[in-house]
Amino acid sequence: MHSLNIHSPAKINLFLNVVGKRPDGYHELESIFQTVSLFDIIELNEKKAGISVKTDHPGLPTGRNNLAYKAAELIRNNYGIKQGVDIFICKNIPIGGGLGGGSSNAATVLTGLNRLWKLGISRSELSLLAAEIGSDVPFFIYGGTALVKGRGEIVFPLEIKNPFHYLLVSPHIAVPTKEIYQNLRLYLTRPKNNGSEIIHCLTTGDSDQISRLLYNSLEAVALGLYPELKAIYLRLQRKLKGKLLVSGSGSTIFRICNSSKEVRRLAGQIRADQTLTKQCRVFTVSSAD
Ligand code: C5P
Repeated sequence: MHSLNIHSPAKINLFLNVVGKRPDGYHELESIFQTVSLFDIIELNEKKAGISVKTDHPGLPTGRNNLAYKAAELIRNNYGIKQGVDIFICKNIPIGGGLGGGSSNAATVLTGLNRLWKLGISRSELSLLAAEIGSDVPFFIYGGTALVKGRGEIVFPLEIKNPFHYLLVSPHIAVPTKEIYQNLRLYLTRPKNNGSEIIHCLTTGDSDQISRLLYNSLEAVALGLYPELKAIYLRLQRKLKGKLLVSGSGSTIFRICNSSKEVRRLAGQIRADQTLTKQCRVFTVSSAD
């Protein structure tokens, strides 16, 4: 029997413009996704039959209700696989934090089982399966930096110049994505720039300019619906200076930095603040594949 241990990365959104509402109820996006060096670890152990999902995190659904289960089920059904798999998720990525942890886990199971069972499924085919699981899952089939369109299923991978450094602050607040989209008023939210300016800065390597261009249509909704999140945002703004942004539908707030040294210095400032330490987890990360 075979087994695999794989990293399943978190993402942040450097740019997220909701372009409009679609007839299917989803929203049309123009977004820049970036995987970062914060990982869950997924262990896949082949077995004779059936699927099981277990995790070390008490707040995470196990079994059928976990997206990782759906990923394994899709692969088995679509490719007529008889073997089963035990999936264990070692959770480091906060849940409901706008970091795409569940979607990443599902994509990791798709790519992992493709390797484990030597199925030879192409990335574009895996990406189609991924879209059946959730809007953010196709991006994680590629990882790295990507321009993402449609409801999330159209992924254009981008080459960036060098690793960028980010400070992530994840409040202990789980924000349901659906609630944020339901409360979005499109006419109130329009970006001053478009994604192409940020893509240019990512390729030329200018973090100060990227900082100015960070944008998220969902930020105001999340801060409006969760006053305790807004209070943390304002406290961070006073402490850190520089531009902050909510990732995805929240609750994680991040800041781009010039160097790993600057990220560590700012993380130190937050950890010295007892109120923030109680309310949040702090991660120092860089862009990752
Ligand atoms: O696709 P997923 O199940 O991850 O999406 C969760 C919810 O987020 C959807 O039910 C929908 O309300 C909202 N959503 C959206 N437009 C997107 C992605 C998600 O409206 N592009």
